[in-house]
Amino acid sequence: MNKYSLLSMHDLSVEEINAILDDALLFDNSCSDWQLPQSKALVANLFFEASTRTHYSFESAELQLGCKAVDIATQASSITKGESLYDTIRTLEEAGYDMFVIRHSTERYYDELKTIDKPILNAGDGAADHPTQCLLDLLTMKQEFGSFEGLKVMIAGDILHSRVAASNRYALELLGAEVRFAGPAEWAREGYPTVDFDTYLPEADVVMMLRIQKERGASLSNVADGDYLNRYGLTKERYARMKKGAIIMHPAPVNRGVEIDSDLVEADRSRIFKQMANGVLVRKAVIKRGFGYAPFGSENR
Ligand code: CP
Repeated sequence: MNKYSLLSMHDLSVEEINAILDDALLFDNSCSDWQLPQSKALVANLFFEASTRTHYSFESAELQLGCKAVDIATQASSITKGESLYDTIRTLEEAGYDMFVIRHSTERYYDELKTIDKPILNAGDGAADHPTQCLLDLLTMKQEFGSFEGLKVMIAGDILHSRVAASNRYALELLGAEVRFAGPAEWAREGYPTVDFDTYLPEADVVMMLRIQKERGASLSNVADGDYLNRYGLTKERYARMKKGAIIMHPAPVNRGVEIDSDLVEADRSRIFKQMANGVLVRKAVIKRGFGYAPFGSENR
């Protein structure tokens, strides 16, 4: 595996996380025009699951960095004829692609790609990990609060099926934050510290709401349609009880009126669309790193 691949948050040290966040911040300021010195690096984007934010913010980042971004039409590829993921990526490697961005429903799909030389950036694997989403979430919190030590983060909703919950739990705890989980008991994740939403709400600095992941089989037999928001979601009444200075986050896509009141999606305390802008900055930073470039201000590796 290429040493600059980004497959899981578990692969990054605190120093590496901070270096990526610092580069992302510089991409927003003095380094906004920075491009890869090699012209037209070929980046293949393979999305085996639906995506708007991750797919097209990666593509935006690739184009801004001077790469040639190529969408591989996974539904029209020879995978539909039984070819393995390994043989597909190996073929694209021989065809001259320099980097692979992959989203797949199989957890740790990348284990079969260990002998691929070119860097692989994980754009989400099943319910396991979503490293670039986690990094953009961290960037959003860093912009807001300056550091993570002692930050209280409540992640609420469908925890069981959420790779965002998994990545954020690991990284935020590594960085010194307190992470708590709320939502239906059916969707609790073993070993994750749970709290009552309404009890913890006034203490939380960050309230991160999650979508119900129906594509992973999530359903609640005992909750009537339309009742989810009142029982488990962020209503206007709950919004009014948030701590002073606290923010709302959500990885999106949002199901308005289900996990969050539609009027709160762009409320003063919401950073949901800011997260999307941060997605491009973070992805520029991980693509730059993926091609072997050191953090801004240090020697090239
Ligand atoms: N947050 C996220 O991964 O969104 P997409 O599924 O639209 O990429």
